[in-house]
Amino acid sequence: MRSHYCGQVTEQELGNSVTVAGWVHKRRDLGGLIFVDMRDRTGLLQVVFDPDFADMFAEANKLRQEFCVQITGEVRARPDGQVNARMTTGKVELLAKEITILNRAAPLPIDYNQQVSEEQRLRYRYLDLRRPDMNEKIQFRARVASAVRRFMDSQGFLDIETPMLTRATPEGARDYLVPSRTHKGKFFALPQSPQLFKQLLMMSGFDRYYQIVKCFRDEDLRADRQPEFTQIDIETTFMSAAQVRELTESMVRSLFLEMLEVDLGDFPVMAYSEAMRRFGSDKPDLRNPLELVDVADLVKDIDFKVFSGPANDPKGRVAVIKVPGGASLSRKQIDEYTAFVGIYGAKGLAWMKVNDRAAGVDGLQSPVLKFFPDAVVTELLERVDAHDGDILLFGADKATVVSEALGALRLKLGQDFDLVSSEWKPLWVVDFPMFEETDEGFFALHHPFTAPIGVSADELRANPGAALSNAYDMVLNGVEVGGGSVRIHDNAMQQVVFGILGIDEAEAQEKFGFLLEALKYGAPPHAGLAFGLDRLVMLMVGASSIRDVIAFPKTTTAQCPLTDAPGVANPAALDELGIQIKP
Ligand code: AMO
Ligand code: AMP
Repeated sequence: MRSHYCGQVTEQELGNSVTVAGWVHKRRDLGGLIFVDMRDRTGLLQVVFDPDFADMFAEANKLRQEFCVQITGEVRARPDGQVNARMTTGKVELLAKEITILNRAAPLPIDYNQQVSEEQRLRYRYLDLRRPDMNEKIQFRARVASAVRRFMDSQGFLDIETPMLTRATPEGARDYLVPSRTHKGKFFALPQSPQLFKQLLMMSGFDRYYQIVKCFRDEDLRADRQPEFTQIDIETTFMSAAQVRELTESMVRSLFLEMLEVDLGDFPVMAYSEAMRRFGSDKPDLRNPLELVDVADLVKDIDFKVFSGPANDPKGRVAVIKVPGGASLSRKQIDEYTAFVGIYGAKGLAWMKVNDRAAGVDGLQSPVLKFFPDAVVTELLERVDAHDGDILLFGADKATVVSEALGALRLKLGQDFDLVSSEWKPLWVVDFPMFEETDEGFFALHHPFTAPIGVSADELRANPGAALSNAYDMVLNGVEVGGGSVRIHDNAMQQVVFGILGIDEAEAQEKFGFLLEALKYGAPPHAGLAFGLDRLVMLMVGASSIRDVIAFPKTTTAQCPLTDAPGVANPAALDELGIQIKP
């Protein structure tokens, strides 16, 4: 039905007859002439209707926004002064000779030129996706997926599918369950990731696996979390953690080169402990120059329990963020930051303004100054390298609270003070603790199939709290874009880890018996990683939510306004499944 896409009609076609098909993006009636911007997925083309062609002009008069049309015409140069340098087709226009209205459009329920609520946009997603901006993002995503496949294929990876109807794979979220009709009362779980299947594929000898695959997690949603999202899932045998990092890093580097002409360079590698110490986060945004500075040693003897308490507690932490220019903050603004850290459990936010450092204590202003001996103040200012106009913001509490609160505050201050640079800042975070200890016991920081670094099963059992895992996260501009690990390939080690996690032998057999058994038959050492494709694409296109790079995403309450899913099941279907809904 067409000879050219709209975006292909450039000055090379001058004088030629072309046929395009697409939508009426905009129609302008300029007295005698009618101008129509035609749109298809490649862009816009200006079409001119001349009243000299009376029949066609009458037809053009009927055109409205989003009519679907086919137009044949002659490509001619735009008159001087009407050239649009920002459009690839901006030097030409199509003088229409024939037009066929392929379909009319009712007045649109969403106006592209107005701010439309996200709910409305999702309700009419098929129209929302016609917007050139959205259309480009989805096309970009397709090109990223294609580049990923080309890279993985070139490295000898096999694309192997894994089941969607399966058993629970613990990645820390709730499962989406699917009831079985043939086995009433039993349920499949949709995979939170293909984790166990890709490990089994390594045990089958496929050596290098990848898959661009949907994962399902019923968890609280945020801008970078969806209930179904897409992983670039990778697993290898006989490769070390460093080798997996090198391979996957080169994949991301080549993606950025190909798609954005950006060279990310070599990614720095940072230990989890350093990331927490300096940035209060395991996914530090290195574009932001603010850092946390520990001062527990300076305040452990001062007469202020709020500080000296945590300073003397092995699980406590006292840290400071220095904000250049922050001395101009008002009391009200400081109160707002205090409320902000309160969200993360901080009980206050002591502050110190450095108005005139040369004046010593007299040049400072702080509600806690009275508790600080002069010598401590001197050392404090030296440690943070204070300058006139700075403010110091303190956190003192359990280490987890201080890190989380000041880590979040650091990001907010970076925004508020416009400190975030516009470079790309990738890094690897490694040497995570194997387990997190809470009042309810030990939890795996990654998943329970992650191998510890350099300890035997017995040593791990004896001191789980001290073990580091052989896991790695790729972080880009403060977003965790990927995570993986060396896996346990030893049955005894896997049983010890289950034990530490409070999964007793019966439960381990029931849930993961197939894995434990598979580990008995010559399972090779293996390691892998999974990227969040949605997050990678979100960052690459500069979107602020992964919803913008998913064709049909869910709302933050995990609904689809377009199809109105989830819906009520019909009673007969429920009956067949043996399910009764509680009132
Ligand atoms: P993990 O749980 O870290 O690891 O997931 C890998 C990557 O997937 C992305 N991601 C998400 N993206 C959007 N919405 C979500 N709800 C969501 N959850 C995770 C993140 C994350 O880095 N099986 C392991 C990987 C492995 O060990 O090989 C796993 O799933 O970018
Ligand atoms: P108070 O003695 O409770 O009036 O607190 C004095 C200052 O210390 C105030 O600026 C509080 O915001 C701050 N503050 C209180 N608790 C903490 C804490 N856990 N960490 C940091 N600052 C705190």
